[in-house]
Amino acid sequence: MFAYWQEPFLVALAGYRTWPCANRGDAYTFRTGSRRQRGSRTGPAQCRGRDCMTSPRLLARRSDAPTTDSWSPASWRTLPIEQQPPWPDRDELEAVADYLHGLPALTPADEILRLREDLAKASAGQAFLLQAGDCAEPLGLAATASARMKHTVIASLTARLERELHRPAVGVGRLAGQFAKPRSEPFESVNGQLLPAFRGLMVNEPDASSQARLPDPYRLLSCYYTARQVVAELAAAGGGVRTSHEVLILEYEQALTRYDEVTDQWFLRSTHLPWVGDRTRRLDGAHLHFLAGLANPVAVKVGPTATPEQVVQMCDLLDPHRLPGRLTLISRMGHRHVTDHLPPLVRAVADAGHAAGWVCDAMHGNTVRGAGGVKTRHLDAIVTELTTFVEVLHSHGREPAGLHLELAADDVTECVGGVSVADESHLSRAYRSLCDPRLNNEQVEMVVDAFIAAMHR
Ligand code: PEP
Ligand code: CO
Repeated sequence: MFAYWQEPFLVALAGYRTWPCANRGDAYTFRTGSRRQRGSRTGPAQCRGRDCMTSPRLLARRSDAPTTDSWSPASWRTLPIEQQPPWPDRDELEAVADYLHGLPALTPADEILRLREDLAKASAGQAFLLQAGDCAEPLGLAATASARMKHTVIASLTARLERELHRPAVGVGRLAGQFAKPRSEPFESVNGQLLPAFRGLMVNEPDASSQARLPDPYRLLSCYYTARQVVAELAAAGGGVRTSHEVLILEYEQALTRYDEVTDQWFLRSTHLPWVGDRTRRLDGAHLHFLAGLANPVAVKVGPTATPEQVVQMCDLLDPHRLPGRLTLISRMGHRHVTDHLPPLVRAVADAGHAAGWVCDAMHGNTVRGAGGVKTRHLDAIVTELTTFVEVLHSHGREPAGLHLELAADDVTECVGGVSVADESHLSRAYRSLCDPRLNNEQVEMVVDAFIAAMHR
């Protein structure tokens, strides 16, 4: 049972979800209860007023907004794309994306630009980014409750970082859109049963059944409405925390890409700071191309297989004009690789004249299988990676621009370390993550202590 079914707008419409058509003021119905019965489905694909929706696929042609010959919000569609779910019905996906395009955007362009200014300071060592949240965000009421807790933790950590690092700290959540996951393996074995991987609640459900693992495009809408509520929740909690997520399902992102007449630019308004993951950063691929045309600040995860040449080409592609704050590189090498792999990348980026900020994700290169096969991360490894990261940056005359963490804001037992999870035998007590293991509050404090100590060395 998932919390998003508790959403009032879905509960009321169990089986049928009806929303007003954005431009015509009337309504049409998604018959979700029978999505396997194609013949009986009604929905935006059959909306008589299809013209009333601005189809994202037609955006470049229909809009007066300028696009270059090589970029429009839809131009990623001709490029190779990694990590896409096997959607059973692409028309259904496109119909949902069309509908999404008629809904209000989630983040205003001026806030997005302000974050770019803040990140410009972070990459120059005059501010500091704390980016944190779940690996995979929940939906519905669970998401808003979680966002409130994340807001509290991020606000308190940024206050502490400001005090101890003597510079403004910028809080950004993995929030209001962190619903889609890349996976190393497309299938997994659960209790001896081979199942398609769980790809985040934007795509399917984690339950151990083949029905639950079937990708369902209507989830894009559940995610959108949840994200909208999370944005409202963050504002109600006092604001100050901006949003970010991994850009993976580009139909969703394209539908929330909007032209801004004031600045004459395209903004991804599903979030403030989109990033591309380590598995989808191929230079000729759809994901980096999509980021390249946006006016947002953007980030890319950089793992141990990245070469200096690739990273420089990535900088050239995403930040050809060397705009301060435009590009953040999130190093996620793993504690065994960071010493060898990070220095050549830092040097190559600097030699090419790019001022991208370097942020440390000390989580994703340090995931291991604990006893019983459960995924975990050891604090020792996390602390080793972030300490080495700081040393590498300092030895190259650069200040770290920030820290990227997966945390629960809650007393979970998913990572090993501290009094709360003394060893792997304690992991089962409160292991609740939908995906990767997150730090609990005690562990976050320990990690931040170690980071601050490294910054002062
Ligand atoms: C993540 O941030 O949850 C993730 C999958 O990261 P990466 O792309 O670094 O593996
Ligand atoms: Co993760």
